[in-house]
Amino acid sequence: MIWSELAKTGVLIPEVGIGTWNYHAGPGPLRKGLESGALFIDTAESYGTEPVVGEAVRGIRDRVFIATKVSPQNLHRTNLRQSVDASLQRLGVDMIDLVQLHEPNPSIPIDETMGAVADLMDVGKIRFAGVSNFSVIQLREAQKALGRYPIVSNQVRYNLIDRTIEKEMLHYCQANHVTVIAYCPLARGLDRIRDCDPSGVIDELARMTGKSPAQIVINWCLCKDGVVAIPKGNSTEHILDNCGASDWRLSQEQLSLLDSRIQYRRRSRFDMMVRQWMPSPLQSFAVRAVNALPRGLRRRAR
Ligand SMILES: NC(=O)c1ccc[n+]([C@@H]2O[C@H](COP(=O)([O-])OP(=O)(O)OC[C@H]3O[C@@H](n4cnc5c(N)ncnc54)[C@H](OP(=O)(O)O)[C@@H]3O)[C@@H](O)[C@H]2O)c1
Repeated sequence: MIWSELAKTGVLIPEVGIGTWNYHAGPGPLRKGLESGALFIDTAESYGTEPVVGEAVRGIRDRVFIATKVSPQNLHRTNLRQSVDASLQRLGVDMIDLVQLHEPNPSIPIDETMGAVADLMDVGKIRFAGVSNFSVIQLREAQKALGRYPIVSNQVRYNLIDRTIEKEMLHYCQANHVTVIAYCPLARGLDRIRDCDPSGVIDELARMTGKSPAQIVINWCLCKDGVVAIPKGNSTEHILDNCGASDWRLSQEQLSLLDSRIQYRRRSRFDMMVRQWMPSPLQSFAVRAVNALPRGLRRRAR
């Protein structure tokens, strides 16, 4: 496993971590992933997976980098404190390595939120502060509000078919030493990536390199400076396969093949705004409707 510096902290984290949204396979597969070097787990107060993460790290907690998230409705000072205390309890730890604001909440003053985060860092409950789904402007404001501590990461969607962050965010983070934690690095499933790979370049590269398709797809993210990835697998087989995305690199020529043959998109601000504010029942309906479309249309609608 290749380790990567978290922002400019001097602290190293594995470049492949383990995501746990919608994870329901118990502590065993997570533990196998940790033992294979993915000593970085991502969870959130909203996922319901903090207890299983706590179980998986028992006895090796000091070696694992634990990241969790506070939900946007809990960003007032008192709520944030309560949320972090509840996460500490569910995880069964006395300090969280990385607490991320899950999403911006424009109705709560960022100074109040970051003030509460700084207080929790002062007393040692939080080691590092991060954000998720923040724009460049929101990230700058959050950093200004946090003051003496750095914001070390922004967790954002990044994969072979959704390259929206390349418009602005990726360069900003690279220039300002903010680690990009790529979520959905497998685009929530290889079938979605295959929909955008009409010539079968992923399978071609898998044959050429002896790596699995998932490893090719995740490695593409890791080839970008300052990017680490947190794929989720619901089996030991998938989690171990994903660990094998590290320790090697696609060649420049192979990266160019992916760039030219995968049909990717960079979403507009309007598209991002609609996605962010669409109520979740409507989102689930939209996902089901899109999945029912024929392949070409499905790709465009996503
Ligand atoms: N901050 C945010 O707003 C946010 C949003 C979304 C996600 N996240 C984080 O990012 C993590 C990853 O994102 P995600 O879970 O949405 O999607 P993902 O990791 O891109 O994809 C997960 C899907 O890929 C499949 N898969 C995993 N490993 C595979 C392999 N080696 N070969 C073939 N298929 C494989 C999984 O199947 P199985 O489940 O059957 O193994 C699952 O269907 C989340 O778990 C969460 O921690 C954060």
